[in-house]
Amino acid sequence: MALLQVEDLRVRYGEVAALNGVSLHANKGEFVTLIGANGAGKSTLLRTISGLSRGYRGTISYQGSRIDRLPVHNIVSHGLVHVPERRSLFPDMTVAENLKLGAYRLKDKSSFPSKMAQVLDYFPKLEERKYQLAGSMSGGEQQMCAIARGLMLGPELLLLDEPTLGLSPLLVGMLGKIMKTLHGQGLTIILVEQNAHLALSLADRAYVLERGAIALEGTGKELASSDSVRKAYLGL
Ligand SMILES: Nc1ncnc2c1ncn2[C@@H]1O[C@H](COP(=O)(O)OP(=O)(O)OP(=O)(O)O)[C@@H](O)[C@H]1O
Ligand SMILES: [Mg+2]
Repeated sequence: MALLQVEDLRVRYGEVAALNGVSLHANKGEFVTLIGANGAGKSTLLRTISGLSRGYRGTISYQGSRIDRLPVHNIVSHGLVHVPERRSLFPDMTVAENLKLGAYRLKDKSSFPSKMAQVLDYFPKLEERKYQLAGSMSGGEQQMCAIARGLMLGPELLLLDEPTLGLSPLLVGMLGKIMKTLHGQGLTIILVEQNAHLALSLADRAYVLERGAIALEGTGKELASSDSVRKAYLGL
């Protein structure tokens, strides 16, 4: 059984059809990536999985149970954590305070410092800036902080929406390494990326989304060598 199973998912915003029957899955421990043009429906798919948007048809199951009618906090408590496209940090709070908000699931609040230390271990840059206001950090640092806050929730499945958007090549490389490490530790990841090079090099399996439907599916390697993917998404 797949960890996450999406079947025939359809989402509409008023008259706009955003997803026209998407089926996909992620196995436990798998690194899955989703690439596609602007407006293809990638963010909508992640938002619907995490309960921020609702489908009018189709099902989403996690560990065999339907989650598509559950409230967001309930989905999070299943271990499904979404780091959305816009970073949505609290700009007037420090990095540490933002992380603390992410830690609300911790049953034993006294474990917050050790949990934070563990998460900041992935992001040495952030460690240096623990007491800086989140809103005053660079875009890249804020992105790191948003992911760190997601990790404070103790995810089993991490949904990342364009984490490298606007980052320098150096930070993109750093983030790539962090995602690889997290995956290596057994975390299941679904990564939405414009940076198809990076995404396909990291992914076990990949999907191409076009106008709200899955156009292609394969291993990261297969898609990276597919002619249509190379033309449309790798600029080759
Ligand atoms: N809140 C909304 N209201 C109306 N239409 C929306 C809304 N959110 C998204 N859409 C539309 O749904 C479609 C899919 O949008 P979505 O944000 O999921 O695409 P995306 O693949 O994430 O694009 P990008 O790569 O630009 O982030 C687009 O046509 C978009 O205009
Ligand atoms: Mg998007």
